[in-house]
Amino acid sequence: MEAFIRSLPKVELHLHIEGTLEPELMFRLAERNGVTLPYPDVEAVRAAYQFEDLQSFLDLYYQGAQVLLEEQDFYDLTWAYLEHCHADNVLHTEIFFDPQTHTDRGVPFEKVIRGIRRALDDGRERLGISSELILSFLRHLSEESAFQTLEEAMPWREQFIGVGLDSGEVGNPPEKFERVFAKARKLGLRVVAHAGEEGPPEYIWQALDLLKVERIDHGVRSLEDPALVERLRDSGMPLTVCPLSNVKLRVFERMEDHNLLRLMEAGLKVTVNSDDPAYFGGYMTDNFRAVQHAFGLGCEQLVQLSRNAVDAAFLSDERRAELNAALDAALQAGLERAV
Ligand code: ADE
Ligand code: ZN
Repeated sequence: MEAFIRSLPKVELHLHIEGTLEPELMFRLAERNGVTLPYPDVEAVRAAYQFEDLQSFLDLYYQGAQVLLEEQDFYDLTWAYLEHCHADNVLHTEIFFDPQTHTDRGVPFEKVIRGIRRALDDGRERLGISSELILSFLRHLSEESAFQTLEEAMPWREQFIGVGLDSGEVGNPPEKFERVFAKARKLGLRVVAHAGEEGPPEYIWQALDLLKVERIDHGVRSLEDPALVERLRDSGMPLTVCPLSNVKLRVFERMEDHNLLRLMEAGLKVTVNSDDPAYFGGYMTDNFRAVQHAFGLGCEQLVQLSRNAVDAAFLSDERRAELNAALDAALQAGLERAV
């Protein structure tokens, strides 16, 4: 099973590039850029990663991002993530970046997107990993700031495929960004939003009805509302679930308490993702391993999770067919090994 999980072709749809900043790289960049970190060493940073909730994590996440100043920093960050993808057999990834985290510190948008893009282009060429970028608005900031960010991104319109919504959820409902998302859709951008991670089912309804999203990021609280489950199931709405993240941020106390299997059994299009792997203790293979172990998932269920991600990804027909063929082959090999 371990070998099957490692070699399973994977597609990641919920990953914050700023959340892939490992403490070692954080220290290297701090030194390179003359930034003083409030920790003596890497071990102290890791020891600080004990979170009570989403906000206690976000405080450290925004603090860590302060070492990212130059285009090369964003390149190095993204390249390190792609090396993890390669090791985990992630064949396609759709990556969030939070421009406001950087532009509000005076780092030009251009440095952020150029650095990330250059690494993604190298990843495609050298590692065969296809990828897309999703510009994510910080929901604790104003609607006006989101509009400004979208405006600032316009010269780079061809470099990202869609927009998302992240940061502190409770108290910042999707309705706050209805007009920005309408504008993004008018520009032909794909739309997704974090909803129902800590926030109530009502926020998921709003993401669907007001933002008109194509995927719900997290969505684990949907099970509290049977009418919402029906809506998600009947519309085939994908959920980008992040198991290790949910346990680390105490949405569920233990992996065994996670509702991933119940979501699948309710007929929802569940995918597995790593969210902020440097902070939550694992990349894609680690997340698959954790849910397989907690719920005793078999090869078919694991392949189904990857298949859902292929369906839900913003892919060309040609690339989608390639990835589905890779999954067919993996399932066949898994079943043959089992007999
Ligand atoms: N930003 C980075 N990770 C996040 C998460 N899990 N929820 C909301 N905002 C985030
Ligand atoms: Zn997230």
